[in-house]
Amino acid sequence: MKIITSNPGKYEEYHKFFEKMGLPIEWIRMKYPELQADTTEEVVIESLNYLISKGYRDFIVDDSGIFIDALNGFPGVYSSYVYKTIGLGGILKLLDGEKNRGAKFVTVIGLELEGNTHLFVGEVRGTINFKPQGENGFGYDPIFIPEGHSRTFAEMSIEEKNSISHRGRAMNKLKEFLIKKMI
Ligand code: IMP
Repeated sequence: MKIITSNPGKYEEYHKFFEKMGLPIEWIRMKYPELQADTTEEVVIESLNYLISKGYRDFIVDDSGIFIDALNGFPGVYSSYVYKTIGLGGILKLLDGEKNRGAKFVTVIGLELEGNTHLFVGEVRGTINFKPQGENGFGYDPIFIPEGHSRTFAEMSIEEKNSISHRGRAMNKLKEFLIKKMI
């Protein structure tokens, strides 16, 4: 199994998860064109088709985003662009004085295996903190506190984040699928 991503933080989470399962995952560190679409699922389908057209097989891709309730789901599929432009400070400014801090993270994993493609979706709800906290993780991790917890993802280890995160949930679905295939 290979993961195609340019993001070392994502790779680390996959590596830790699949290492535990005894299934080594190979990292193809590469950027590929990400088509803009209305949903994360559509982005992943386009990415799978693009990479398949380039000859890649037996691989996964991951597209994720943060959807903030008070901003009607923004930045959602624009999460990457918004992170690079206004960043965490910009998001916190948009939420200045906002009492509704609810948000969710979504990961869609796209898998190509034996000529077929499959999607695995994971979500986690939580709240946007009032300031960035923590040094671990990447992206929006310093401002996201998952439901039922009092620390941001950036204050957790990879193992702890994986055990509750959007990506962890999507990876669990992928794992179930792979286990069924092996039996
Ligand atoms: P993409 O999945 O690479 O398109 O990511 C979209 C944006 O969300 C990027 O700015 C990522 O850094 C960020 N992001 C993706 N996954 C996570 C996560 O698990 N935690 C925090 N930020 C994330």
